[in-house]
Amino acid sequence: MTSCDKDCDKKRWDSSQLRKYDLGLEPIPRYHYQDPKVDELIKKNQPVLITGSKLVESALQKWSLEYLEKNLGKSGYTVYLSRNHKFKYFDEKKMLTKTNQKGVEFTPISKRVDMKVSDFMKRLKEWKRGEERIYLQQPLNSTVGPSIVEDYMKFDWPFVTSKKTKHNWGELTSNVLFISMEGNVTPCHYDEQQNLFAQIHGYKRCILFSPDQFEYLYPHPVYHPHDRQSMVDFERPDYARFPKFRNVRGVETVIEPGDVLYIPKYWWHHVESLMRGGPTITVNFWYKGGPTTLEYPLMDHQKVSIMRNVEKMLLEVLQDPKEVGPLLRSMVIGRYTEQ
Ligand code: FUM
Ligand code: FE
Repeated sequence: MTSCDKDCDKKRWDSSQLRKYDLGLEPIPRYHYQDPKVDELIKKNQPVLITGSKLVESALQKWSLEYLEKNLGKSGYTVYLSRNHKFKYFDEKKMLTKTNQKGVEFTPISKRVDMKVSDFMKRLKEWKRGEERIYLQQPLNSTVGPSIVEDYMKFDWPFVTSKKTKHNWGELTSNVLFISMEGNVTPCHYDEQQNLFAQIHGYKRCILFSPDQFEYLYPHPVYHPHDRQSMVDFERPDYARFPKFRNVRGVETVIEPGDVLYIPKYWWHHVESLMRGGPTITVNFWYKGGPTTLEYPLMDHQKVSIMRNVEKMLLEVLQDPKEVGPLLRSMVIGRYTEQ
């Protein structure tokens, strides 16, 4: 771990600000943006912490909470509220509601609301222990004010576009703005897009796991609102239910303003704003995966994608999630398993 206790000349954070987990973790490699190792790692779908780039330089000095409040515009922003520090994403389309009778019965621990930036900032400033925590997560869109547009235009687009071209990624789909309270946690999940995760303000610890750790992380079934999220609570792992979690192996780093973390598609990630570190601001660059040709042996993320498709197909034909497990078991046990 790149602990600032040991490595930093100036102490910007210390390990007491990190939440404690019983995990086997190695550091994520860090390289200057001009180092050829950056592209070597990206080419191999391996995470890398990119230092020294000017990707979001135009935002680094300017995007304080006050500046964002003044310039983000008056429209509503997506804000999540949570009764604890965890913001586990849920897909509302997969929830049973009055209008969706095919969904799963499920009560999320957090909720999504639409909020004006000024109301969000007020709550952030006045927040007291015991109140719901808040986390703004919203793709930047055309409703932002002209100053934000100007800063956005000044992002180092040649830098990200060269990564897109060199690594054959698809189109840029969004730039999500994250404004978090200190101590908030986005629990472990994977996304299906390439992610350049640019830190603007404060410190975030990012723990990543390769797609080959699928069986150690126990993702929720695809039909579940928590699809793509690990079922394991890192703070209190239920080892009786999730015994292989003891053997999970990951990598971690703490990102600081100016750092850009490459999170490859299908890589699991757990993200936490450091405790007692103040609010954090991040903007990501999400790119579609781009066309893939199947080469053998298949890559781990391709296997995950295939598993998702098989699961989706079975659900579609069987219509009842409860039938998927028994069917898969009778297909596999004794035929594709050791006897
Ligand atoms: O909390 C976060 O910054 C999460 C980011 C992500 O899931 O990509
Ligand atoms: Fe994510």
